[in-house]
Amino acid sequence: MSSKTTVIAQEELQWQFSYCDKIAAYWHEKQVTPTAYVETYGCQQNEADSEKIRGYLTQSGYAIVQQAEGADVVVMNTCAIREHAEQRVFGNLGALTHTKRRHPEQKIFLCGCMAGETKVSDRIKKSYPHVDGVFSTHHLWQFPEILWNVLSTGKRQFFIADEAGSIAEGIPQVRDNTLKAWVSIMYGCNNFCTYCIVPYVRGRERSRKKEDILAECRCLIESGCKEITLLGQNVNSYGKDLAEGVDFSDLLAEIAAIPGDFLIRFMTSHPRDASQKLFDTMASSPKIAKQLHLPFQSGSSRVLKAMNRHYDRETYLEKVRYAKSVMPDLVLTSDVIVGFPGETEDEFEQTISLIEQVRYDALFTFIFSPRAGTPAAAMDDPTPKEEKNRRFDRLCAVQNAISEQIHQSYVGKTLRCLVDGTEKDMLTARTEGGRLVRFPGDSALIGTYQMITITGATTWSLTGNLERG
Ligand code: SAH
Ligand code: SF4
Ligand code: F3S
Repeated sequence: MSSKTTVIAQEELQWQFSYCDKIAAYWHEKQVTPTAYVETYGCQQNEADSEKIRGYLTQSGYAIVQQAEGADVVVMNTCAIREHAEQRVFGNLGALTHTKRRHPEQKIFLCGCMAGETKVSDRIKKSYPHVDGVFSTHHLWQFPEILWNVLSTGKRQFFIADEAGSIAEGIPQVRDNTLKAWVSIMYGCNNFCTYCIVPYVRGRERSRKKEDILAECRCLIESGCKEITLLGQNVNSYGKDLAEGVDFSDLLAEIAAIPGDFLIRFMTSHPRDASQKLFDTMASSPKIAKQLHLPFQSGSSRVLKAMNRHYDRETYLEKVRYAKSVMPDLVLTSDVIVGFPGETEDEFEQTISLIEQVRYDALFTFIFSPRAGTPAAAMDDPTPKEEKNRRFDRLCAVQNAISEQIHQSYVGKTLRCLVDGTEKDMLTARTEGGRLVRFPGDSALIGTYQMITITGATTWSLTGNLERG
């Protein structure tokens, strides 16, 4: 794998746009409006990538539809983080043989993190002949070329070369939501946590230029966007690879200084790099949501070392203490892995005690899933599956009780929330900390901030009423 980051030249991107024109002309000649369906798995990074895929498709004349049946193009943007995620994709990919049989002109593509694994592309080559193209995240910017090659030659395309990664500015985006936007500030990861496949499939850490990010945020805010979530596998490493001398806290402060009524969120923060400067910056600006996703992964320092996380239990707890001291209303969420190879009962109990000590608002809980090629997949793992399941259930029960207690403490409070949609006959809104609130109201309120009095709570969400007066 080479280590150089390539910034894709604007001429190269123009070249891709010329493929969009060719594709549009191809369909124009047939006098049909082609349709495309993009299915997204995995994290927000993939959601953001799918917006670019839809951008390219729209520019090539495709109408975006919501189902694979009958679509002229189907793109599966996949996730490789756990075995289960991959099995789902293979299952759904298999089902596409039927949609293609009913519509033989359908072109099927697989991209995203799974496309970065040689074992996956080999399997597709051999056993999934109905898939027309596979491209890894490094080749997303070349999607028009790949699509055109398939349309014009009928030959299968595999753009999967192993690279450190690149940055392409100016790919069109079709965003799902006008109120809330994802903005990638960096790509890739250098951390190589021993369980994780992301660095292998998304390449090395590379930051977008500050000016490009600021320009995108300004544009979003001017067009009415109310919430921007900055994305990166470890946003706290932002800028380390740039000559600009800017770090993530500086970037946050500059975005917060853009005029307008909006909130900034971000994910994910690696605890090793989450600094007091970051927490102070968050505390100092009303436009930075008091919400922090700070994955701890395990409460045992021995396990954390085996995970190559570069912090221990005490350092983590100290950072949480500081963050809460400068932001008393902080909503704190985290990721945790149960059943890492060799995790003992006592080490698992340390995870439970950390959860009880920190009292997260919500937790994303995972059972360790061995990923081929990562160091942890080769580690001795004597704990039986049933035991891991038992630990997982216990952990969820402990956390659910905490989440419910924290939610109950909201009852009676009146909070400023962004009204963001409808669900059945209720409106939905988000608190500054990102908690979901359902309340009755007129859909004309969508897109506005409202004061909502919380009247009820469950483990997962809140209910409330508009404040009268
Ligand atoms: N970059 C982010 C995490 C991205 S992956 C960070 O470092 O915090 C999201 C979560 O998936 C991780 O935090 C971890 O808890 C979980 N995860 C990653 N690899 C996993 C594996 N092999 N098995 C189980 N869970 C895993
Ligand atoms: Fe994976 Fe660790 Fe990188 Fe997060 S920081 S993406 S868990 S290697
Ligand atoms: Fe999955 Fe890739 Fe995200 S592996 S979690 S989609 S970075």
